[in-house]
Amino acid sequence: MLDRPTILVVAPTHYDVSYSINPWMDPQAWARDPRGMHRNAMQSFDALREALDASGFAVEVAPGAEGLPDMVFPANAAVVLDGKAVLARFRYPQRQGEEVPFAAIFESLRARGWIDSVTTLPDGCYQEGAGDCIWDASRGHFWAGFGPRSSREAADAMSAHFDREVVALELATEHSYHLDVCFCPLAGGEVLYYPPAFGAQALREIHARVPASLRIEATEDDLRHFSVNAVNLDDQVVMTRTTPHLRAEFARRGYRLREVDLSPFMLSGGGAYCMTLRLDRDSTAARASVAAA
Ligand code: ARG
Repeated sequence: MLDRPTILVVAPTHYDVSYSINPWMDPQAWARDPRGMHRNAMQSFDALREALDASGFAVEVAPGAEGLPDMVFPANAAVVLDGKAVLARFRYPQRQGEEVPFAAIFESLRARGWIDSVTTLPDGCYQEGAGDCIWDASRGHFWAGFGPRSSREAADAMSAHFDREVVALELATEHSYHLDVCFCPLAGGEVLYYPPAFGAQALREIHARVPASLRIEATEDDLRHFSVNAVNLDDQVVMTRTTPHLRAEFARRGYRLREVDLSPFMLSGGGAYCMTLRLDRDSTAARASVAAA
């Protein structure tokens, strides 16, 4: 198992926006200048890599595959904890083709000793990886989104597989189609989240576990900037170019922000967190220091 913060990204060689499976995706905007868009995407990706590296991650770059543009979002490929990977099952046919190449990528990580086991979910349920199953290191449990993409039952399968609590949160809107679009636990125990993305029951779950002083409420503007979709390591945070509101909020709480222009990927409904997957998450490192509300 890995013993340093290691993060997987996928090279955007085959990236484009050619279909629409979430309300942010804009194939027409891409089609106006595909070459320029692709060039910008390559540059954005390099900038993201640099920001991750500067934040303290070892960055592992996997290849994409032709005809599978959304492979650049490996957060959806698997859930990884304690050296165990559970491969995703995608809801939409446009992304189901990613399951085979991602299985090969994880098999090679296993062969290198970075991952101990690679498994699949039972048939008949959808689960779109760490985008819908987010490890909360300060509380020692997962938060799982369900509704638009992942199935409710997937949360129970994850809990059984990893032997960890999974708190399931129903996503109430198509704009927040993955949990990582509207929910981000941080190292200090704070949770950055967009309340209107959740129904009453999910909000009760969040409020029961996260005291008010640790809740950072994102605005609609923050959501549109894909800023809730952030990558955090200790006090380091990598995200898309953000809003004055979040800049101030993060500075006040002692985080150092690295902002990257990820607009070519926002055109597909993604930000920094979706473009990465942590491979070294370790449940025993949970700093059970955050008291419940
Ligand atoms: N176009 C991709 C999709 O709709 C974007 C995925 C972004 N990933 C995420 N974890 N939010 O599936």
